[in-house]
Amino acid sequence: MTTATQPRQPILKTSLPGPKSADIIARDAAELSTSYMRPYPFVPDHGEGVWLTDADGNTMLDFFAGIAVSTTGHAHPHVVQAITAQAAKFMHVCLTDYPQEVTTVLAERLLRHIEKPGQKWRAFFGNSGAEAVEAAVKLARYHTGRTHIISTLGSFHGRTYGAITLTGSKTKYKRGFGPLLPNVSHVPYPNPFRPPLGSTSESCGDAVLAHIELLFQTVIPADEVAAIIIEPMQGEGGYIVPPASFLPRLRELCDQHGILLIFDEVQSGMGRTGKMFAFQQFEQYGNVQPDIVTAAKGIASGMPISAMLARESVMTWPQGSHGSTFGGNPVAAAAAIATLDLLEGAVKHPGCGESLMTNAAQVGAYILAELRAMQAEFAFLGDVRGEGLFIGMEFVKPDGTPDGKLRDRASQEMFRRGLLNLDCGESVIRISPPLILTREDAETGLNIMREVFQALG
Ligand SMILES: Cc1ncc(COP(=O)(O)O)c(C=O)c1O
Repeated sequence: MTTATQPRQPILKTSLPGPKSADIIARDAAELSTSYMRPYPFVPDHGEGVWLTDADGNTMLDFFAGIAVSTTGHAHPHVVQAITAQAAKFMHVCLTDYPQEVTTVLAERLLRHIEKPGQKWRAFFGNSGAEAVEAAVKLARYHTGRTHIISTLGSFHGRTYGAITLTGSKTKYKRGFGPLLPNVSHVPYPNPFRPPLGSTSESCGDAVLAHIELLFQTVIPADEVAAIIIEPMQGEGGYIVPPASFLPRLRELCDQHGILLIFDEVQSGMGRTGKMFAFQQFEQYGNVQPDIVTAAKGIASGMPISAMLARESVMTWPQGSHGSTFGGNPVAAAAAIATLDLLEGAVKHPGCGESLMTNAAQVGAYILAELRAMQAEFAFLGDVRGEGLFIGMEFVKPDGTPDGKLRDRASQEMFRRGLLNLDCGESVIRISPPLILTREDAETGLNIMREVFQALG
């Protein structure tokens, strides 16, 4: 007889959607904006940790965390307690006009992760990733007195006017919405699996840098460029990790021309890769210290708050030039502090070792290794990449070209078997679970994936 507890499994009580969910789905379709996508018939009712239960009592394993948001899982007691305590004190006063201890503490706690000795940074708080990006671009233009911004193809920076202009992943985000922001250019992202500009996996970073230099000589005067904005690891574009030397060399290029370097860490940040910010994975290869960083998604375990962090020497805009009624909401800020407690390990989560960041690194390495082993068996798994719990698997046809249809089938099959997941890029499934994922729950997810891959042939 064994006393070991069996790993928890999804519980599927009805077909998906069950009757209650089907009713809500129909009412949602009748009342809400036609722009919402509804790829999976799942209506969440409540969650606990990495498990989400729908309106019909079906319990799924969450491998996407509401797009890399639910860092501490669902309804984490430490976060819920912080939210409740702050809500009982006050829910709003308006940070634009009044200082508040909770946002001051949050700024101190966040900036500690970015400031180097002798450096001073400052924080601006908004409500969403797009708002943080807007703030970053406004500040870059204001501070430099220059107008041009360079972004990357495949990028996602949000849906407000400035942010969609910078976004480079899909034309559907832009079609019919113009005119967009002037003076924005896009350059390829150095994707080692699909190297752009006729380069190779090894040379793709250099090729992109040479391309930027070419633009500077031909169409964009470098001294009119305020900033280059880039995701240190690209999210929506396909969970892509650039070559090791790329970001240090991009930093050099920016320094050479007096251009600010903005890292959009909205998806890759907040401990997901095993470090607080993804760019810090590249510090071992050279100077990658940016001028501005944006963070949102995972910052407060699902409460809406974002941060635009900038060097003090760059944050030169005057009082009143930028603000937000709700930005830096105290309840969301309290949730962010509680999230940091868990990320840093000041508060421990059972079964997750030292901190959620170390857990992300360890469990992520395990998932990556297992998926890479599966590549030998399943040829359609063209690439498995990532860092920590920021993992992408790219589906390919036998000739190596992207297989979006197979990816869609795989994604739906995983869903049907109780594994919540989400696509990205042309043919990628992203694995971005809560950072409290244990090895046992990771194994459950991997077993479902293996079953699906076997079924796909
Ligand atoms: C890198 C990045 N930047 C910005 C955004 C926009 O964030 P939000 O949807 O909160 O406005 C996203 C959202 O997916 C993102 O992935």
